[in-house]
Amino acid sequence: EGSFCKVKKCEDMEKINYLEGLKNPNPTIPTKLLYDDLGGVLFEAITKLPEYKVTRDEYELLDKEKEMIVNELPSNACMIDLGAGSCQKAAYIIPQLKPIRYIPVDLASDFFSHSVSKLKNKFRELEIKSIEADFSTDFNTGMVKDIQGENFKSEPTVYFFPGSTIGNFRPDIGINFLRNLNADFILIGVDLVKPLDDLMGAYNDSLGVTSAFNKNILLHFNRLAKTNFDIRFWRHDVRFNVRESRIEMHLVATSDQKVASPQGSIFFKKGKSIHTENSYKYTVQGFTELLEEAGFDNLKSFVTPTERYALFTGSK
Ligand code: AVI
Repeated sequence: EGSFCKVKKCEDMEKINYLEGLKNPNPTIPTKLLYDDLGGVLFEAITKLPEYKVTRDEYELLDKEKEMIVNELPSNACMIDLGAGSCQKAAYIIPQLKPIRYIPVDLASDFFSHSVSKLKNKFRELEIKSIEADFSTDFNTGMVKDIQGENFKSEPTVYFFPGSTIGNFRPDIGINFLRNLNADFILIGVDLVKPLDDLMGAYNDSLGVTSAFNKNILLHFNRLAKTNFDIRFWRHDVRFNVRESRIEMHLVATSDQKVASPQGSIFFKKGKSIHTENSYKYTVQGFTELLEEAGFDNLKSFVTPTERYALFTGSK
């Protein structure tokens, strides 16, 4: 379809890379594999759990501070939404921000294309063109420039990076990523350090949705790498790594496991774990420094009254 710029999906990634991660002394599976169709639905469910407050906190903050936030950003901008998904958060801020152009970026899916179509119906005046790409690997700022065409000089770019997705990057990688964005302005959300029980509860909810979300990575992995992980023998495990200030999600083998793959079998002893996700938690001070290192200044932070979540604006 003409309005989409198609880039490769994560299914095209080389299978050999997956198995390499598993053969590490500390086995890993790429975090992005949490998000197949089912993973996307499970994540949506997570955002509605009583224990997981990130999404609700962000909506509340956007709502309460809308005017103050928009004061820090230019109107008539080109707004680029990284990991746009449902485009719901952008829909919240667009009426205030009044961008001239909106570029949602996310992996190709029916869900994403329907969300973009809905947004087009809602904001008929707005130029909307999506980029179907993994924003952390396949996306580059040239794609935005191509869409802007000759308007690129007159349209400041506002990168919108909500949801504390930056928390899933190792800080040095996050800094690099943000530095390379070529952003004139940024509006970015981040989850803050909070009491341990609250942090652990958010990733170990009582309904078991996050456990299902985590285990589903093995089902996705089986399809991609043609392995035969049996998820009945893996347990969801959440740890807070104090030194790194991050929540870690792992899957622990509950008995000795032999996993078949086209490249031979992989063995996991009972108790061995596979690391599937990091979710870094920042202080306002710590995240301010990260943004400064990424080249942003004029930084402003907007924090929930509970001090659980923050949005930052900044410019380059
Ligand atoms: C998408 N990301 C910010 C979520 C987080 O909190 O790190 C993913 C998630 N993992 C488990 N629960 C939610």
